[in-house]
Amino acid sequence: MSAGLVQAAYIVAAFFFFLSLKGLSKQETARSGNYFGIAGMAIALIATIFGPDSQGFIWIIIAMVIGGGIGIHYAKKVEMTEMPELVAILHSFVGMAAVLVGYNSYIDAPEVATHAEHVIHLVEVFLGVFIGAVTFTGSVVAFGKLRGIISSSPLNLPHKHKMNLAAIIVSIFLLLHFVNADGSMFAMILMTLIAFAFGYHLVASIGGADMPVVVSMLNSYSGWAAAAAGFMLANDLLIITGAFVGSSGAILSYIMCKAMNRSFISVIAGGFGQEVVISTDEEQGEHRETTAEEVAEMLKNSKSVVITPGYGMAVAQAQYPVHEITDKLRSQGVEVRFGIHPVAGRLPGHMNVLLAEAKVPYDIVLEMDEINDDLAETDTVLVIGANDTVNPAALDDPNSPIAGMPVLEVWNAKNVIVFKRSMNTGYAGVQNPLFFKENTQMLFGDAKESVEAIFKAL
Ligand code: TAP
Repeated sequence: MSAGLVQAAYIVAAFFFFLSLKGLSKQETARSGNYFGIAGMAIALIATIFGPDSQGFIWIIIAMVIGGGIGIHYAKKVEMTEMPELVAILHSFVGMAAVLVGYNSYIDAPEVATHAEHVIHLVEVFLGVFIGAVTFTGSVVAFGKLRGIISSSPLNLPHKHKMNLAAIIVSIFLLLHFVNADGSMFAMILMTLIAFAFGYHLVASIGGADMPVVVSMLNSYSGWAAAAAGFMLANDLLIITGAFVGSSGAILSYIMCKAMNRSFISVIAGGFGQEVVISTDEEQGEHRETTAEEVAEMLKNSKSVVITPGYGMAVAQAQYPVHEITDKLRSQGVEVRFGIHPVAGRLPGHMNVLLAEAKVPYDIVLEMDEINDDLAETDTVLVIGANDTVNPAALDDPNSPIAGMPVLEVWNAKNVIVFKRSMNTGYAGVQNPLFFKENTQMLFGDAKESVEAIFKAL
């Protein structure tokens, strides 16, 4: 394939990636967005493999078969609830790839015409390795936290912000030395080790409730790491693709920060206001329990019902019976709507995907801001496997680790039924005063079984 044809194929692939991102921004078009992405990637791979710059065709195919085989195996096996972990570990691969490309590009430097180009190449290599190394360890820690291998509570080392700042300053000095010395393996290795430690510390310092922001931030970092690799390899498509991922990840992080009322800058700086003490043992009072039959009766007597799902609905796979009771109640003239918190579940849009999968009509699925004001006029709210996202402590307790995070204000409704298996805390490890309110009743048990029992009783 000639260089001209490869460039033309790259432009087509870049356009497909653009269409893919556009499609992925809406539920209705997400499937076609995925197909555009697949098509763009297929074109990009074919053009690169058969392009004039590629050698060792057999090795590439062997690597692709092994990598693709492992990828297909895991993609088929992974549960919806494990998706964020998979995404986090995939980000780490992008980070490591950028580190390896950087070292390779430093050791086997491309021919350049001028000294300026040589300096630019050195800077590209250094920055690419730095971003890649931070992304790698940061993503590994995020994976560990999401999987529960590493504690989700924040690591609070003394002077943590000063340590982060020191890592950046030392790395800048190493960059200057690297460029002045016309390349230095010592500076590269030292910077890589610092960047590995920096990435680890940055993510380890962030508590469980803020993990959504961390995941989207690492998504952005992985994009910039890929773009850096594109510069080192002089591959335009990799630069464009990396910039797409980097900027869309940054926009997503910004949206997440706004949704959780966090400062974007302090997220990037790692660990924001986590010095607060997490207290779960505080005396909260008595909770009341109910049964599926009583809930069915209450629902029959309600005019308006709002369902606020959370991570527990995903674990229990309760979305199908939830759709059944929704249909049943709607056929009996009850107004049923869903209230979705932006970080409910474990990945952006998690609840929307589950409800779409169960074919719940889109028009009754509302965002938190759209439903919050209506909750005071709602007869019954069913909190299905949600916890942190309906926690009034976020608004009432300035010392809470989730203080300031907007939540679904379900306690304003006439009746609240909470579906969960125990009095355990949610992902942020914070006790929920909602469970002890006068108008709240707990329906203990697996969410799917509870909803099915209500359907039977209805
Ligand atoms: P969580 O606060 O995680 O609480 C989920 C609740 O579901 C738990 O309290 C659990 O209580 C219950 N549960 C688990 N399995 C269940 C089952 N089979 N049947 C019934 N209940 C079950 O949920 P949330 O309100 O959706 O909040 C999400 C949290 O995750 C937030 O802190 C958010 O910051 C964090 N997070 C979100 C994301 C994104 S992007 N969405 C990413 C990472 C982290 P029991 O154990 O008592 O049953």
